[in-house]
This record gives sequence, C-alpha cells and structure tokens, in this order.
Amino acid sequence: MIEEEIMRIEKKFTANVYWKRPVVITEGHGAIVWDISGRQYIDCTSSYGVCIIGHSHPRIVDAISEQAKKLISCHGSFYSETRSKLLQKIAEIAPKGLSKVFLGNSGAEAVECAIKLARKFARKPEIIAMVGGFHGKTMGALSATWNEKYRKPFKPLIPGFKHVPRYNIQKLRAAITNKTAAVIVEPIQGEGGIRMPPENFLQELIEICHEREVLSIFDEVQTGFGRTGKMFACEHWDATPDILCLAKSVAGGLPLGITIAMDEVMSSFDVGEHTSTFGGNPLVCAGACAAIDVLLEERLPERAARMGSYFLDKMKTLADRHMIVREIRGLGLMIGIELRFDVLNILLKSMNRGVLLLDAGRNILRLLPPLVIQKEHIDTTVSVLDAILGEEERERLRD
Ligand SMILES: Cc1ncc(COP(=O)(O)O)c(C=O)c1O
Repeated sequence: MIEEEIMRIEKKFTANVYWKRPVVITEGHGAIVWDISGRQYIDCTSSYGVCIIGHSHPRIVDAISEQAKKLISCHGSFYSETRSKLLQKIAEIAPKGLSKVFLGNSGAEAVECAIKLARKFARKPEIIAMVGGFHGKTMGALSATWNEKYRKPFKPLIPGFKHVPRYNIQKLRAAITNKTAAVIVEPIQGEGGIRMPPENFLQELIEICHEREVLSIFDEVQTGFGRTGKMFACEHWDATPDILCLAKSVAGGLPLGITIAMDEVMSSFDVGEHTSTFGGNPLVCAGACAAIDVLLEERLPERAARMGSYFLDKMKTLADRHMIVREIRGLGLMIGIELRFDVLNILLKSMNRGVLLLDAGRNILRLLPPLVIQKEHIDTTVSVLDAILGEEERERLRD
C-alpha cells in the first residue's frame, strides 16, 4: 500500500485523538526506525518511552515467537510458568520491600490499580497529586492527572482528588488530612516538562507519609527500567514508596502495566476486586522476562547514565549558543529542552532531517531515546537541533 493510502485509511477510521506526524513507520532496530520509503530516522522517542532496549530486540523477538508457538493466553485464574518467571524477576529488581505485583496492560491501568489499592488499604478516599503531574487518561488516572486540557471535557471526574504545587513539601504537608489515603507523584515529571524534584523532596515525602499514615505512590511509568540511569528513578534519592507503578518499557515494546506494592498493602485486595482479562498473559510475560534479562546483562541503566550525561553536556552547549533556549534539564536518557516558544514546528523540521523528537507541553522538547543509542546518533541529533534552533532564531529576529 502506498503512504497516502495508509494515511487516508487511518484518518478515516480511527478516533481523531492523536496529533499525527505525516510518516508511516515500517521497521525499527535499535535506536533507528525506517519509513515506508526506506528513509532512516534516529528515534529519540522510543515510541513514547516504550522501546527502551531498542526496537525489535532479537531477544524479545525470539522470546515472544517461542512463547507464541506454545501458549499466548492464560487467564490469571490459571497458573502459568512464564508468568511465575516474570514475577520472580520483578521481585528481584524491585526496590526493597516491594514484592507483591498486579499485572495489567498499560500505565493508566497500573495507576488505576494503585488508586484502588490505596483506598482499599487505607479505607480513606482522598488522593493527593501534584500540579503538572501526568498519570494517564482513564477516569481514575485522569483524576490524578493535572492538565485541564485533558480533564475538562470529562468532568465530573472521580471525587476525592486534589493537586498541590509541584514538589512543594510544605504545601504537601498542609494538604494531608485525616481522609488522605495516598500521595501520588512522578519522581521526575515527564509529560509535565521533564521537571526534576528538589534534592530532598522524595525522601521528605516518604517521611511525611509515614508520619501521617498515608501511602506513597510513585508513578515510574516513564522513569522506570533504567531510563534515568538507575533501574528506578527513586533510587537516585534513596526513597522507596509503598506502591510503584510501571509500564511503557517493561516488556520490550509489548503492552504491560505493573503495580508493585508492599505485601501487606497488596493483600488488602480480595479475590475478584481487581482483575484484567489480558493482564499477565504469557506472551507479554515472555517479552518482559527477555527485556529484564537484556536490561541487566547489557547493563543498560549504567549505559543510560553514561550516554545521558554525554547527551546532556552536548545539549547544554545549545543553551549557550541559542537565546531561544530557556533551559536544558534531565537525568540519564530523559532530557527536556525548554524553549521560549511552541515546539511543534521543530518536531516536524527535525523529522524532515531524520530525527524523531517528542514534546512535553507547548514549549518543551522531550528526548526519550532507546538506551542503546550510539554516540554518533547523539552527535547527529545535537547538530540537527543546533541547525534548526539557529534557523528558528533567525526567522524570529527577522519577524
Ligand atoms: C508518568 C506516566 N504515568 C502514566 C502514563 C499513562 O500510561 P499509558 O499511556 O500507558 O496509559 C504515562 C504515559 O505517558 C506517564 O508518562
């Protein structure tokens, strides 16, 4: 099928909910993807943070092919060897004390589970989230998500949610009441613009939660599995939550959401209270087992730390050279470039020059490349951005 026909069909038959780039992607390996005409792109999106070990990693391909030949579906009401292997692997890499797992299919579902779990365990209704926080778009997760653009058309949302100023420990302390079940936070806000917490914030949050008998939920859907240079971002600050939400990158590209909690917290669910038909199916579990093996054997979190600081240092030179750059920030291979104007045009321009980027809000470029990205790809990405920012600057000066 030709490119125009594919685009016409997608436009005609899918809900108009994605801002679409005019490109048909047909293949991906490592940090490179190809379009239908064979053109190559450096993928600094990882498909929104999913392909952390690279596109179509051979170990994932082998694992899911082998599993598919044996058994694709096995509901959670039956036992599965592949699922048991994955649960063991998750328990081995999870922050200490977190050992009980619920397997779903997406980030929003991982958050839904955490919210229900907190309410059930604490027997209290209130959930506190942060200004700028993003936790997904299903009704429960959306109630924790901050952006009014996503919330407004669907009100009323779930009652009992409130938002406090981002990473402000005093305001958080003041917001907790005797009805508060949990505080939910991303260790680094992703969609909110790659916002880093102050140095002691997460530890203080945990302390306050313990003091006030409130559960802490860390949403590491975007920051988890090596993205920031440690297996989980919370490890940078030595802060372990009561509940951890994971998704995106955990199954080498396949859909999997994971909620991990302390045993006594997860045990508050009774049989039938929270289930999912596809959750924990052997196909996805096989992919996730392989993804975790690759992450550990190839030491990808360490690689993310190394390549991330190389990338960030190079990017920071752009801030020195271009007035339109307000700030460059990030950790590991999670990088944000805040500009003084809208970035959509830059996403298209960089695509036309062979580099795929993400946005995170109106004026922030977001880079979430696969952790296997090579130095030469980083150098090319920086020089493409350098050229585009220079052009944009000149155009704006001319206007
Ligand atoms: C921190 C965070 N939580 C939750 C989600 C929702 O994940 P999903 O789109 O898989 O539902 C996202 C997605 O971007 C996210 O970044």
